[in-house]
Amino acid sequence: MFTVALVCVLSSATLLVSGIPTPSNTCCNTSKAVMDLPANQTTLVAPTTAPLFLALGVGVQNYSCSSTTSTYSSIGAVASLFDISCLDRTPAFTTIQTTAFDVWSKAPPSVKATSIGSTALLGYHYFVTSPSGTGISPMWDFTSTGKLAGNATAFVMAAKVGDMVAVTSPATNVDWLALDRVEGQLASKIFRIDTVGGQPPTSCVPGSAPISVKYTAKYFLY
Ligand SMILES: *[C@@H]1O[C@H](CO)[C@@H](O)[C@H](O)[C@H]1NC(C)=O
Ligand SMILES: *[C@@H]1O[C@H](CO)[C@@H](O)[C@H](O)[C@H]1NC(C)=O
Ligand SMILES: *[C@@H]1O[C@H](CO)[C@@H](O)[C@H](O)[C@H]1NC(C)=O
Ligand SMILES: *[C@@H]1O[C@H](CO)[C@@H](O)[C@H](O)[C@H]1NC(C)=O
Repeated sequence: MFTVALVCVLSSATLLVSGIPTPSNTCCNTSKAVMDLPANQTTLVAPTTAPLFLALGVGVQNYSCSSTTSTYSSIGAVASLFDISCLDRTPAFTTIQTTAFDVWSKAPPSVKATSIGSTALLGYHYFVTSPSGTGISPMWDFTSTGKLAGNATAFVMAAKVGDMVAVTSPATNVDWLALDRVEGQLASKIFRIDTVGGQPPTSCVPGSAPISVKYTAKYFLY
């Protein structure tokens, strides 16, 4: 009798930072994974199917200063996405975003987000010009990394369909989001939850340069 292993050949060019749990496998079967959402809200609705990918995002949220309101507005984000499927249903899964943020927030500027992850790099999150030609849209792109490298459709560009303030410390932690696919084959729904960091200061000096604010979050792709 054969045992068929889940074959996950992901790029492993990650520095394993001490303190972040490092599962021995790079990716695991997500069919039993469940996204925990607070029961006291209806903004984010978990799909009834199992997620396809469980990712830890480590990166920055970018903001520019509005000269009319003296407040920051979002101009996009860039993050590395690490596979955390093998931590699912372990105690480390619950706290991975905080563990990673502790390392990321203290890292000097020379340390890139790609070297913070606990496991293999799944792909990248960034923004592109929206299909309409105006504004920007978020992208989750696995086309250049891991087992989907070279697969030109292994991305998803999405649009926000749900937005709630973070369950803890909403002044410092960016909102939890639900997004639906606009283009690409990687997933049809994306959720950003368990956010840490990423919020800009409440006011800014008009004319000041754009800023990048470090954050981590979990991304569930369905
Ligand atoms: C994942 O687990 C489910 C349920 O145990 C199983 O039906 C499925 O075949 C597994 N998928 C892979 C790729 O091993
Ligand atoms: C909603 O539930 C979460 C726990 O899941 C709790 O932390 C939060 O304070 C609750 N919010 C409200 C407004 O009751
Ligand atoms: C965000 O800022 C970082 C530098 O911190 C930069 O590398 C990245 O290109 C910026 N992305 C966007 C969408 O502004
Ligand atoms: C390419 O990636 C997409 C999205 O993950 C997947 O649906 C498709 O089956 C892949 N194609 C090949 C040839 O592996």
